[in-house]
Amino acid sequence: MRIAEPTLLTPGPLTTSQRTRQAMMVDWGSWDDRFNQLTASLCEQLLAIINGGDSHHCVPLQGSGTFAVEAAIGTLVPRDGKVLVLINGAYGKRLAKICEVLGRSFSTFETAEDEPTTAADVDRLLRGDASITHVALIHCETSTGILNPLAEIAHVIEQHGKRLIIDAMSSFGALPIDAQQVPFDALIAASGKCLEGVPGMGFVFARKEALAKTAGNSHSLAMDLFDQHTYMAKTGQWRFTPPTHVVAALHEALLQYNEEGGLPARHQRYDNNCQVLLDDMAKLGLRSFLPAAIQAPIIVTFHAPKDPRYQFKEFYERVKAKGFILYPGKLTQVETFRVGCIGHVNQADMHAAVAAVAEVLREMEILEI
Ligand SMILES: Cc1ncc(COP(=O)(O)O)c(C=O)c1O
Repeated sequence: MRIAEPTLLTPGPLTTSQRTRQAMMVDWGSWDDRFNQLTASLCEQLLAIINGGDSHHCVPLQGSGTFAVEAAIGTLVPRDGKVLVLINGAYGKRLAKICEVLGRSFSTFETAEDEPTTAADVDRLLRGDASITHVALIHCETSTGILNPLAEIAHVIEQHGKRLIIDAMSSFGALPIDAQQVPFDALIAASGKCLEGVPGMGFVFARKEALAKTAGNSHSLAMDLFDQHTYMAKTGQWRFTPPTHVVAALHEALLQYNEEGGLPARHQRYDNNCQVLLDDMAKLGLRSFLPAAIQAPIIVTFHAPKDPRYQFKEFYERVKAKGFILYPGKLTQVETFRVGCIGHVNQADMHAAVAAVAEVLREMEILEI
């Protein structure tokens, strides 16, 4: 059976290059020196992206992004710690859920899905509750595409002597974060996002002094980043079966990342994709949910057409038949759909995707947008 390969305009899994997929055609022995070197090289390159080689460890972890988020909270927050969770979307809510499930004390601060958390909010909240030890923040909240002001918030947290945990799942690799400028204890991302690898592993950049104090914090054997790091530092190997093909694909994806020009080039390409998407959709009368000032060039939420003939499922299937996979909206109050700007796609792909959307809207006789 030949499976057609539509272009994924989704925030991960996303469209990868032929070269990255090709890198998965090798079976690696997990004990083999060459595989250990691959892992070491991967971690070194990942640390370089945040300029964190001296200050942070990179701890890779098997599983999807949420596994790494849960592992970071479980490892970095002591059992008697308290987390302030900043929420403006579904992934922020998930952070709070993780704290609840892990039995870590937490409080939440929630703003509307089109309203970034501000440094002033965080300052006020930290003044109001001295028992908070950690703050957890989503950098780009992928449920809408909103960007939270990470650097300003990080500095306020540092002034209060508190610790920051950043879920940078959908921004890492595309939006600049310098570990020497932005103070944090943990930053979490994954293989299948802006680095354009395939899904299957996450990684946590943990500040060296912070990680050194976390023995025994974790609720879980498999999710213990202290143990994972200690074992890897000693043996060069992953503690449990590594996602070998995912590691190899990410390594190859990083070669291409650097060939392209690293973070500035990736950022620029995604910015261009996002601009083409917004401009072309606007010509069809499709409005984005967020104002430009708080829109990250990662994923765009669009208001669905108001026409009663519009049904997301049919719209999705018809656009898919023309070669593009879109993403459902994640808002409860407003009917929306989302289109990703990330992955191995360029401006020509974005023009073609919106042309496919235009054809579908005509086919569905959707007039009122
Ligand atoms: C900001 C953010 N956090 C966490 C996750 C969860 O990752 P996963 O679905 O890989 O577990 C995602 C996934 O897109 C995300 O965008």
